[in-house]
Amino acid sequence: MAAGILDSYVLSIPSAQNALDIFRGEWSSKFPPPFGHLVAGPLQLFQDPRVEWALSVLGGVANKTVLELGPLEGGHSYMLERGGAARVTAIEANTRSFLKCLITKELLGLQRCHFLCGDFVHYLRESRETFDVCFASGVLYHMLDPVELLASLSLHTDRLFIWTHYYDDELISNNQALRPKFSPGTPHSTAGFEHTLFRQEYLTALEWSGFCGGGRAHSHWMTRADILAALKFLGFKEIITACDEPAHQNGPAFCIAATK
Ligand SMILES: C[S@@+](CC[C@H](N)C(=O)[O-])C[C@H]1O[C@@H](n2cnc3c(N)ncnc32)[C@H](O)[C@@H]1O
Repeated sequence: MAAGILDSYVLSIPSAQNALDIFRGEWSSKFPPPFGHLVAGPLQLFQDPRVEWALSVLGGVANKTVLELGPLEGGHSYMLERGGAARVTAIEANTRSFLKCLITKELLGLQRCHFLCGDFVHYLRESRETFDVCFASGVLYHMLDPVELLASLSLHTDRLFIWTHYYDDELISNNQALRPKFSPGTPHSTAGFEHTLFRQEYLTALEWSGFCGGGRAHSHWMTRADILAALKFLGFKEIITACDEPAHQNGPAFCIAATK
């Protein structure tokens, strides 16, 4: 009987595609030129207008330190390094995503991005390190306690970029695909900020090995108004929003740039 370990060997000439194929079918991102021909995923996360907007309104990242939460496959990390960041510290909890980030780092020759494998909530609770800019794209709605994340971030930076989904009763109750994932809102208080949390179940999304949500089977979403009020409550004085997508297929979403 053939040993299963032999399935882990690549018997063809070395190539970038071989590296991507370790996670074939699990990539979300399309690689940028000169790797655009490679078979990976469909999303333009290496050429993402949300990141371009953040860089334009937060004064760029040239020579700045950046904390990136949940890099997934390193697309935004790549854009931050190309934007001149002095150092990008990117924390990823999903081990498959972490390894995909390392593949990206090797293929694209990233020099100033450093990927840490673990939970950024724990990191933010325990670390005293501060950063010129924090990128929290695609992570707030994966939290059990989203305000705890915002409160922790407010202790680590004065400049914050967020892209997130938010709960909107009308938009979500009128959407047949999204409605079954949510429970009615419950009042909650974190760090003295009163708000409403809406429990969201990942359901069948957990069946895909390229799953890119949080580490539990559910998370809590907030309303748009509560997210903005929480940022004000936590001391962010200038708050700009953009890229509003109320009809986004995974739920209403928007971008926020917040500075103290
Ligand atoms: C939806 S993806 C967002 C990817 C990318 N930042 C973007 O905006 O396109 C969420 C990422 O955060 C990671 N993640 C979720 N919760 C995390 C946590 N507590 N600590 C570290 N990474 C986490 C997931 O594994 C995933 O890679």
